[in-house]
Amino acid sequence: MAQSMHQPVPVIAIDGPGGAGKGTISQAVAGQLGWHLLDSGSLYRVTAFAADRKGVALEDSEAVSEVARTLDVRFEYTGTDTRIMLEENDVTNSIRTEEVGKMASVVAADSAVRQALIERQRAFARPPGLVADGRDMGTIVFRDAGLKIFLTASVEERARRRYKQLKDKGMDVSLPALSRDMKERDRRDSERSVAPLRAADDARVLDSTELAIPEVVALVISWVNEVFPP
Ligand code: C5P
Repeated sequence: MAQSMHQPVPVIAIDGPGGAGKGTISQAVAGQLGWHLLDSGSLYRVTAFAADRKGVALEDSEAVSEVARTLDVRFEYTGTDTRIMLEENDVTNSIRTEEVGKMASVVAADSAVRQALIERQRAFARPPGLVADGRDMGTIVFRDAGLKIFLTASVEERARRRYKQLKDKGMDVSLPALSRDMKERDRRDSERSVAPLRAADDARVLDSTELAIPEVVALVISWVNEVFPP
């Protein structure tokens, strides 16, 4: 029988609620492995941000999915971090606010918007491998991923982490407001009918509440070595 010329690209899908550490862990794991990285949340954030800038109502499914389809976004690796360029403007920090997060979760509940972004996300799967983080990486976008992880932490710990992250960026945030917004976003992401936030049946659930970042990274790398032996 002819051997398939097509070698599937190894994919690690990391899903979970906001503030669980997906971004930090994914970046560290991708860096250690030398694999590509997809921060899928940033695509929803950029879509919401661009729609808002254009004066498009976030509930206008047709108009927002058109924005998603025609999004002129580039991820530029500078050697130290990744800058997100929207129509050649650096929006890396502007899309990180909790307000844009909330807007992203509104547009993300629309199936036409999700459909418009799906191929763009799959295109990130290139050799030698991909670490993809989001809400539906293991359940929808990369259903065949060799390693699926559902990374979670208590809501209090997630709010504290997000608070610190935003404060470190010089943003003016309040912990109680952040915690409230996060719970609301979790609820919207988990209860929506399209691609709700949930662990894939074959995902490994990792609760990072009591773990430090290097411990989580080491655990993930040990799973990678087990699932994708060198
Ligand atoms: O992960 P991040 O906070 O950047 O995601 C912003 C929002 O985008 C999430 O609250 C969620 O509603 C949406 N999202 C999604 N599916 C993904 C990634 C993010 O629905 N794969």
